Amino acid sequence: MSVKDTVLQVLEQNRNTFISGQQLADMSGVSRAAIWKAINTLKEQGYSIDSITNKGYRFNSNNDILSSEGIQPYLRPEIYNSNILTYKTLDSTNIKAKQMALEGAPEYTVIIANEQTQGRGRLGRSFYSPCNTGIYMSLILKPQMDIASATLITTASSVAVCKALENVTKTVPSIKWINDIYLNNKKICGILTEAISDFESGTIESIILGIGINVSTETNDFPEELRQTAGSISSSPTVNRNHLIAEILNQIYEVYTNLAPGSYIEEYKSRSMILNQQIYYVKNNIKYNATPIDITETGGLVVQKENGEIETLTSGEVSIRLK
Ligand code: BTN
Repeated sequence: MSVKDTVLQVLEQNRNTFISGQQLADMSGVSRAAIWKAINTLKEQGYSIDSITNKGYRFNSNNDILSSEGIQPYLRPEIYNSNILTYKTLDSTNIKAKQMALEGAPEYTVIIANEQTQGRGRLGRSFYSPCNTGIYMSLILKPQMDIASATLITTASSVAVCKALENVTKTVPSIKWINDIYLNNKKICGILTEAISDFESGTIESIILGIGINVSTETNDFPEELRQTAGSISSSPTVNRNHLIAEILNQIYEVYTNLAPGSYIEEYKSRSMILNQQIYYVKNNIKYNATPIDITETGGLVVQKENGEIETLTSGEVSIRLK
């Protein structure tokens, strides 16, 4: 690791605390002059670092530049050495991750962008991804399962993202089937899972788990058509995005390594915002009013239609009926 990266990591690990130039020099095994040079390079890159004579250097809490050095200190040991790549801007982290998976990138490679110019959403939609105020990340997974079981990853990962949000931001989000995450009745996060599969064997080669979170986008900054439905975690940039990304990766690791049919469904259900609510959905161009009554072990939504008929939905989207 370069001197600059070591300094960045140490300052990130000790946010809001002064670390002397000598301490940094000892930790990096270089001279104080080399530390001074590294600090200047970091400042040029946009990091806000306080320096006081006889006290040293301090990373101030406003720093919110995405970097693998900023993420790594918060990672659990099992994934501490994951391949984490951060970009200022990408068309889509899912597109980049897919490309890398096809080129043989290892499992748990993470692609993160500070902005996406063609962020992709579910059902062919786009995902609004402005710079600095969101998290746009894609994780490459290589599960040993068939395509039919892949919905397990989708439902389990929405539980993981909720847990991470609860731990880092002290908010209590809920899940709208199948994997939209809501806070105060506004969508703050969407998840797009895409599979690279072996057509002949019907097995999955890789799963690209794409997660988009509106961290601090102001209501008026969303495109007009999203203003009623989209929200953010907070209106000011008080969330340390590096920390939240690391916690999401930690929680996904936890659910992913314990994945079995039904394993996260109780937690998923307890966070569901649509169970026993009045919803509607459109299937083959017909609109149905219904009430979701259960979620199956593999994430299917069991609904009771107005005529009493029961149906299990496995894909698509439902909307809440306003009273
Ligand atoms: C949805 O709500 O429809 C899903 C949105 C998923 C957005 C994320 S942002 C990171 C990753 N890259 C993309 O292009 N899309 C996903």
